[in-house]
Amino acid sequence: MCGIVGIVGKTHAEQIIINGLQRLEYRGYDSAGLFVSDEKQEHLVKSQGRIKNLQEKLTNEVNGTIGIGHTRWATHGKPSEENAHPHTSQNGQLVLVHNGVIENFAELANDYLAEENFYGQTDTEIVVNLIASFMEKESLSTKTAFQKALSVIHGSYAFALVNKEEPETIYVAKNKSPLLIGLGEGFNVIASDALAVLDQTHEFVEIADNELVTVTADGIVIEDQKGEIIQRDAYQAQLDASDIEKGTYPFYMLKEIDEQPTVMRKLTQEYRDDQGKVNIDKDLVEEVSASDRIYIVACGTSYNAGWAAKSLLETVTQIPVEVQLSSEFGYNMPLLSERPFFIFLTQSGETADSRQVLVQTNRLGFPSLTITNVAGSTLSREAKYTLLLHAGPEIAVASTKAYTAQIAMLAILAQAVGKNKNSKASTSFDAFHELSIVATAMESMVDEKDYISSLVEHYLSTTRNAFYIGRGNDYYVASEAALKLKEISYVQAEGFAAGELKHGTIALIEEATPVLGIITGQNTGAHTRGNLKEVESRGANTIVIASEELARQEDQIILPTVHPLLTSLVAVIPTQLIAYYACLQRGYDVDKPRNLAKSVTVE
Ligand code: AGP
Ligand code: GLU
Repeated sequence: MCGIVGIVGKTHAEQIIINGLQRLEYRGYDSAGLFVSDEKQEHLVKSQGRIKNLQEKLTNEVNGTIGIGHTRWATHGKPSEENAHPHTSQNGQLVLVHNGVIENFAELANDYLAEENFYGQTDTEIVVNLIASFMEKESLSTKTAFQKALSVIHGSYAFALVNKEEPETIYVAKNKSPLLIGLGEGFNVIASDALAVLDQTHEFVEIADNELVTVTADGIVIEDQKGEIIQRDAYQAQLDASDIEKGTYPFYMLKEIDEQPTVMRKLTQEYRDDQGKVNIDKDLVEEVSASDRIYIVACGTSYNAGWAAKSLLETVTQIPVEVQLSSEFGYNMPLLSERPFFIFLTQSGETADSRQVLVQTNRLGFPSLTITNVAGSTLSREAKYTLLLHAGPEIAVASTKAYTAQIAMLAILAQAVGKNKNSKASTSFDAFHELSIVATAMESMVDEKDYISSLVEHYLSTTRNAFYIGRGNDYYVASEAALKLKEISYVQAEGFAAGELKHGTIALIEEATPVLGIITGQNTGAHTRGNLKEVESRGANTIVIASEELARQEDQIILPTVHPLLTSLVAVIPTQLIAYYACLQRGYDVDKPRNLAKSVTVE
């Protein structure tokens, strides 16, 4: 997903924007650009590829008291300099940056701009010319023309618009895509994520969908679709700029893998009261307790976290749990139970696939909880309840600490609900105690880096494909392990139910195909070992990741014992490191893998 940064009322706008775009690089992008202007002159520069290519084109001749910048993740038109943002209207007057997808861009071009030619292929270029066309043909002001354009646009957007003849104003608007306003002394900033401008301010104002905000150095004016002025309080961002520094780590992903024991302990600090009880909104606990089925809705790694938490949630709360892919659920909603409760797992809180489900469940009047790592994010604001992961910013595109934090958060919630329902299992399950054991176990696993790196060198350094297999929770961890390996080392990895492999897919096993077996389930370990023998007899190289009570002499990775419902929190650690070293040994960019975005705000 792309990033937007803008500023009005401060000199050196160009450098401030570049710094901000660099802080948003982790979100993934294919090109970048910026526009700055001061009383005398203006400068628009764009480049394909990394921000450093953009920097090389900067002349620093323009001091810049106003500017907007953008990193693009292409949805319409190939990644190229001409398709990079900002986009300029044909009359040269307007400059626009955009995050999102305009679904009816072709109709708009046909209906309003039929006689015009465009230099690029993006939907965004249609919008900037649509606004210019309304200004010219209907003699509208910039803001009124912008409002009119917003009334005919369908799709997702975060827009920042500048009229070169009004070099003291930035017009912004959003629908589904994130955009925040930062308040400064004598200046104001805009950004897709507070992280981008923490060096300028910690005070932010949220923008709701379908609002239009006029931003000048002296202040902001928020208007709704009818032009009514809206007052909204600012809030202080809890983040600190140091949170987003790598420190001595070569990559954010390794730092975030190492932070997982601390995150387990942080969750205990945040959610345990002085009497050792769970400190969570009582209404939330009551509403979950009153439900007859919990639906966990998520994407990617968060979806895998949902599966890894399913059995602990069901066992401790005695409520059936369904785990659903957001992108499917919204368009193929199953027959729901009488009293459903929806839990959205989302690190970023901005995933469009998940948000479109939340819009529907809100419309249907069902209660919902968003568990997220980003305060003030869209899904956090729009769900009835929210629980924050307090995991610190997760910068690497490949999610690690958010995965384990989501499972741990669900364990804490399960305990609160189980206790509230007096479920038998909850009497013997003390989430905080168990998570402290998990944290210690994680620490011993993250200390195995050199050994795991050598394992990867021996078994995975040249392979094009690999399998992770397991049963029950081990299968769910196998799915996450495969995603991690796939998304950063580009190895075609599959997470498979161990017992299912022989029903067809075993045909793919060849000489030296790596097959990694995860064995922590008391009643399934022997069967998984049998499945590993089946592939070994067909030439596979097997690696066993087993909990110490089930381990055998020849097993390569031994996991310390933790509560049987929480083994995924420890088993996943070596698989994260395996993915990290497989990527490193191939020379790829660990934190910014090709084609991927940290937060996918398009459906
Ligand atoms: C995680 O490694 C992936 N980058 C991706 O699958 C991610 O988990 C997914 O896009 C969901 O993101 P969210 O948790 O922010 O909603
Ligand atoms: N749809 C726009 C484009 O393809 C914006 C994509 C983005 O969010 O970066 O240029």
